Amino acid sequence: MQAVVLVGGEGTRLRPLTYGTPKPMVPIFGVPFLERTLSRLKHAGIDEVILAAGYLPQAIRDHFGDGSRLGMRLTYVVESEPLGTAGALKNVEEHITGPFFVLNGDVLTSLDLRKMMDFHQRTGGVGALHSIRVDDPSAFGCIVHDDRSRITSFVEKPPRETAPTNEINAGTYLLSREVLDAIPAGRNVSIERETFPALIAAGASLYIYGTDDYWIDIGRPEHYLRAHRDVLDGRLRLDPLADPERNGGRLWLRGDVDVPEGIRVPAFVADGASLSPGAVIGPHAVLGERVIVGPGAKIALSVVWDDAVIEGGAQILGSILADGVRVGRNAYVHDGTVVGHEAEIAAETVVEPHSRIVAEPAVAQA
Ligand code: GTP
Repeated sequence: MQAVVLVGGEGTRLRPLTYGTPKPMVPIFGVPFLERTLSRLKHAGIDEVILAAGYLPQAIRDHFGDGSRLGMRLTYVVESEPLGTAGALKNVEEHITGPFFVLNGDVLTSLDLRKMMDFHQRTGGVGALHSIRVDDPSAFGCIVHDDRSRITSFVEKPPRETAPTNEINAGTYLLSREVLDAIPAGRNVSIERETFPALIAAGASLYIYGTDDYWIDIGRPEHYLRAHRDVLDGRLRLDPLADPERNGGRLWLRGDVDVPEGIRVPAFVADGASLSPGAVIGPHAVLGERVIVGPGAKIALSVVWDDAVIEGGAQILGSILADGVRVGRNAYVHDGTVVGHEAEIAAETVVEPHSRIVAEPAVAQA
């Protein structure tokens, strides 16, 4: 079995993180998100993967190469213009030899792909679409089906009160090759909005594969933070997160870290971090490699990427800091703020909630 992973989106909602790092390479506990997706595929016995890329493809290629490090065979197909979620599949048609998985590149889920394969075989339809139930379906594509799981219609982002169902499209599909015949070539096509509804209208048999798995789309800052919190709280097991686990399994340390007194579990600290005495880390803090934290600084409910420097007395709460960010003494960064690569926040600054901060462009020297 093959899989296509859709990794071509610009990830606008995760800006400014995605100015420097394409969404599939955004780290989850220090490991690029796509690496976790590829491991899941490998675990399910799928080692031939086509990456439908477009935005910043070189960063993906530089990290994974031909996939041999993971024991996989990776093929990169790069779009010069975004072709959309179905156009991207049409564009890789020549590489597809049989039934294939399609995975949105930003979905974190505990879905068992092998069980989904069994389901698809049993139903014998042209496709199976993974679905989960949510409390409020108004931000999602809903899937309506009959009592034998055959899909009868799709309803995009219905108002909550009138939503026909709370079963939503969870972004993992198992499709027969013939589905590609239904996608026009050479233009942007959405699989959710065009291809699936057209297939249903033509009488094709698409089935819903509903599960109650953990599921989150990490493509928004608040979801990205929530995914980390959920893993730290044990709602989703990500293997291997870090080793060894301490403090009753609620403090994850990767590599060589001196643990200061001020750790409030659950927390994760990666290799080479330098945490001053008097710094308070956690709860729900995730620190990348070589992060430096000064005395009296506080970091909670936040994800800090590699090589960030948090000076003494600074507070980081509910925010995301990309690689190489520098936060000056006593600065206050809180409530959904996202700071892009290498940006600097001056000492004593109070950053407005939900700010997006990018590095100042370098000024040319005369
Ligand atoms: P936003 O700009 O924040 O909406 O993110 P996005 O561009 O990634 O779009 P969205 O989250 O809707 O995309 C869902 C999945 O499809 C992601 O894994 C994207 O990488 C992927 N994707 C979206 N559009 C394209 C496209 O035109 N080509 C390819 N190859 N993948 C796409």
